[in-house]
Amino acid sequence: METKILTETISRLMTSPKGILAIDESIPTCNKRFEKIGVVSSEENRRAYRELLVTAPNIEKYISGYILFDETMRQKTLDGKSFVSVLQEKNIDIGIKVDMGTKDFPPHIGDKITDGLVGLVERLQEYKEMGATFAKWRAIYNISNETPSESCMEANAEIFAEYAYECQSAGIVPIVEPEILIDGDHTIEQCFKITTKNLDIIFKKLLEKNIFIPGIILKTSMVISGKEAEVQSKADDVAKMTIKCLTEHVPKEIGGIVFLSGGQGDDEATENLNEMHKYEPLPWPLTFSYGRAIQNKALLSWAKNPSDISASQELLLAAAKINSLARTGEYSKLK
Ligand code: 13P
Repeated sequence: METKILTETISRLMTSPKGILAIDESIPTCNKRFEKIGVVSSEENRRAYRELLVTAPNIEKYISGYILFDETMRQKTLDGKSFVSVLQEKNIDIGIKVDMGTKDFPPHIGDKITDGLVGLVERLQEYKEMGATFAKWRAIYNISNETPSESCMEANAEIFAEYAYECQSAGIVPIVEPEILIDGDHTIEQCFKITTKNLDIIFKKLLEKNIFIPGIILKTSMVISGKEAEVQSKADDVAKMTIKCLTEHVPKEIGGIVFLSGGQGDDEATENLNEMHKYEPLPWPLTFSYGRAIQNKALLSWAKNPSDISASQELLLAAAKINSLARTGEYSKLK
């Protein structure tokens, strides 16, 4: 395994004050998001929306890498340039979602396991030839009385290790993304307990498989109360408990840690990230890899007025900028 290529990719991705933009929604997820705002999820509409995300002027000031979906990886702008080449010209790294979604993991209702190891080696090879330098694999965990079960966490961790091994062998940085879902009425303490246990299980499996830890990025959910919890956690609690969880349960030599926004409000995701930097110095670089928290306003504007691409791109840029400020703890200075 060539470790240099992995650490070089990570140092570009984690360059301060940038973060990663996730635009890797699968077709079913895109269908849901578009349906909510009254847009038909046709291939052309998905292409047109992604074109505005990819071509947004100056986005490279705040974004070091874009995570794409298979369809987007193969799409072009209206004037015939591949999305990949547009991003590469801005020195933005190309990431690709390589898992194939989740399926039930009986007997516990709500436990899910992530699919996609079959054919992974070939897919990685093809994506690498197309320009990908990093990949992403997401597992999800529901908090309820019975879930996530230990067997589900173990099974997903084993799959993460297999995925990470194949990525690193191909010279592609694996993003390992365990997402504790925000749905439900669980407390922040319950979220802390599950997140720490899950991270312990994941890193044990990664180490058993001899994964090169400085050559991976952890993409995690924050430690936060459920959306329907009676007591909603505040930014200082989210920051304190997330940093405690990560400093105590993630190896110090990891390449970097990034957050998903996971259905938090846009401002909430920015404020929570900003608050984390009060705990610096941290052992690893820490930034965002948001999807919705950066795209929401741009998507809505495009849905209302698809011909005004610049208005939508300005909203995208503004969201990327405030999260870039939050990445160094400077967001509050603006308020
Ligand atoms: P959100 O920030 O919308 O959660 O998306 C990030 C992501 O990549 C989910 O897998």
